[in-house]
Amino acid sequence: MDRLRITGQTPLSGSVKISGAKNAALPILFASILSKEKSVIKNIPLLADINTTLRVLDALGLKTLFKLDDHTIEIDGSSLNSLEAPYELVRTMRASVLVLGPLLARNGEARVSLPGGCAIGARPVNYHLTAFERMGAKFDIEGGYIHGKAPNGLKGAFVRLPFPSVGATENTLMGAVLADGDTLIQNAAREPEIADLARALRSMGAKIEGEGTSNIQVKGVSELKGMNHSVSPDRVEAFTFLASGLITRGKVTVEGIDATYLQSALELLTQAGAKITNTPNSVTAEFVKDLTKVSFTTEPFPGFPTDMQAQFMALLTQAKGTSHISETIFENRFMHVPELVRLGAKIQIKGNQATVEGPTPLSGATVMATDLRASASLIIAGLAAKGDTLLRRIYHLDRGYEQIEQKLSQLGAKIVREHEK
Ligand code: UD1
Repeated sequence: MDRLRITGQTPLSGSVKISGAKNAALPILFASILSKEKSVIKNIPLLADINTTLRVLDALGLKTLFKLDDHTIEIDGSSLNSLEAPYELVRTMRASVLVLGPLLARNGEARVSLPGGCAIGARPVNYHLTAFERMGAKFDIEGGYIHGKAPNGLKGAFVRLPFPSVGATENTLMGAVLADGDTLIQNAAREPEIADLARALRSMGAKIEGEGTSNIQVKGVSELKGMNHSVSPDRVEAFTFLASGLITRGKVTVEGIDATYLQSALELLTQAGAKITNTPNSVTAEFVKDLTKVSFTTEPFPGFPTDMQAQFMALLTQAKGTSHISETIFENRFMHVPELVRLGAKIQIKGNQATVEGPTPLSGATVMATDLRASASLIIAGLAAKGDTLLRRIYHLDRGYEQIEQKLSQLGAKIVREHEK
């Protein structure tokens, strides 16, 4: 198993190119199931979750070709011969549940292993299933699998989501594009990755309006052609590098991303005392004075994203004053806290609230990553710590960050991957 050794307290400076967004690439790859033709998807990040997605598509019989040097995946939609996303794959990547919409829409049937809980919470899929029931599907749970059937195909429907769930919005949208009739998704999630999925679906001939707002309207069509799309940049990766630069009192530019993707986070960074500048295609965060406390609550887009909470918390350990953080999206997303405390942070948790007292000097230690964004927060803290931090269980990190140690090294960080015996 690999681990990362981070030797802290070197100011980062320079520019780094942001990869395609994991959370956009996954639904977009699954959307290729909707067409019998060949799809070509560019700007794919090189990540473990992408490999898992390809294994799910392979399990469905689709032929896939990953041109690693080009960050491009080609998928032949003609060879679909199975309707089942197996347990071994869903277990490692919950987003596999996104095959439901495309399979029900194209073939009227799907079997997907029930995802079960994960490190950050229970994460049920009831909103997805209720949406498809509104569209005429029926579900049974058998042998740990969700078995969905829509023998007469999905029908357009009015679907009001109880909460703007990202996954439920994506799944419903992918079902609706091939449904018979019109669908209105109300209280839809507004994340940029959903807008990217809508653009990808439109390249296949789908008729969608309103993506990026709470009301998405879809006119079902009877067939879709192959997809031709380039995935949008990863805002979570971008924020991770900006926070890494600031915690080292440095100056980092993230290239290839529009500041509007990061608006809520950039407002908070400015409030904390960072100097933020941007061009249409890049954002720079510069340390100009000691950072001060800020408080925030995680919310659906355009609010502050839960996927950046752990990284911001690491940064706030070096800000003067008491910062309050409320996590409202997932019930168990403070697992990085005990590890940050091992590095010297002063953080207390009460329910879904964390209180961070800063600044506290951090000193390197061995820490264990418990999920993807928690791993990123420990790297950020390690970059500010005195001495060496050893980050173990970095397979979480490899699920969502492409070559993070190379990119950080390019900015001047002292970080190496080591093989643990
Ligand atoms: C996606 C992202 C994840 C991000 C999250 C919130 C991907 C692959 N993952 O996850 O990185 O942290 O959005 O921005 O894009 N819920 C239910 N029932 C459902 C669906 C969701 O109760 O049927 C609850 C969840 O348990 C959670 C909340 O709704 O508490 C938000 O979940 P959701 O927006 O669906 O997140 P994901 O799509 O799983």
